Amino acid sequence: MVVKRLIPAAILVAALSIPPVTSAHAEADAESLVNALNAVFGKHAGQRAAHTHGVCVKGSFMPTAEAASLTKAPHFNSKTPVGVIGRFSMGGGDPNASNAQKDNVRGMALHFDIGNGSTTDLVMISAPVFNARDPDQFLALLKTVETKDKDKIAAFFKANPNTTRQAEWLNARPVPASFATVNYWGIHAFTFTNAEGKKQIFKYKALPVGGEAGLSDAEAKAKDPDFYRPELKERLAKGPAKFTLTAILGEPGDPLDDPTAFWPEDKRKSVTLGRLSITGLEDDKTCDAGIFDPTNVVDGIEGPENDKIFAIRSPAYGVSFARRSK
Ligand code: HEM
Repeated sequence: MVVKRLIPAAILVAALSIPPVTSAHAEADAESLVNALNAVFGKHAGQRAAHTHGVCVKGSFMPTAEAASLTKAPHFNSKTPVGVIGRFSMGGGDPNASNAQKDNVRGMALHFDIGNGSTTDLVMISAPVFNARDPDQFLALLKTVETKDKDKIAAFFKANPNTTRQAEWLNARPVPASFATVNYWGIHAFTFTNAEGKKQIFKYKALPVGGEAGLSDAEAKAKDPDFYRPELKERLAKGPAKFTLTAILGEPGDPLDDPTAFWPEDKRKSVTLGRLSITGLEDDKTCDAGIFDPTNVVDGIEGPENDKIFAIRSPAYGVSFARRSK
């Protein structure tokens, strides 16, 4: 579609909003954001409005003792592996988004089984920043992209440089060779509380145990657009795909309300929270039966108070779920 040629897919993708300069009339709510996603990517009956192209997986998570010192959350205090259902995805609402896209995020969404039929969720993307500061900025971005007007789109990015950071970051890196060979970030600043009541602000980051692996542009171009699913199946037949889940610890002054702002990761302490092992593919219906909800946290973990993108995600996912469940 024309839009794709004009704009990095990452900008159309996963987490969305737009700045005040051009968004004087934008009044984003969950419904208007999902409508705008549908307008950009098309309506696809029975499918997600974003991160449409994906694959459901299963596995387990084993926390470290250090995780328990940071939080009383049950999955970080378990003495035995915690069951996990997950979904890897391409950003954006195109059900046929090519796995070879460079300027698009990969998603990793997880349900941790915390017993008694309850889960807690963690949703991450393969970049440290989102492409909008708040829902109005995301709506303005989507509405501008929807016009397919090259000049308007260029003007929007010029006026809203924070919305291009994610695409710039992705374009400076190779296409991930697999869903299992790229780092993922939780984007928002969460707060852990431990058994003594001590609080710690942090951001999630998951790193493949075998390290990152990417493709050259020529290699990526030669790939089938749907190569990740068979690649994952083949990989998992040989053994689990393992990730180290970490917490990057925040320090005073780190931005807590702007998901387009980088944290100086190399200057921050990182704590290993545990080992995620993806062991096999799971029926996609298991993942489609509900939403992966970033606000579905447990005692011992809190989401950010003033991050407007974080606040609107759960309702937006609810709208998408209601529509795809009809
Ligand atoms: C205003 C901002 C955002 C909006 C409107 C939005 C919208 C959506 C929607 C509608 C879905 C599909 C939900 C469903 O039907 O289950 C979705 C999925 C997803 N979003 Fe967002 N999103 C936003 C921000 C973000 C951010 C900041 C991240 C970064 C972690 C993110 C990562 C994901 C991922 C990984 C999925 C796929 C979940 C799955 O596999 O089911 N999104 N998003």
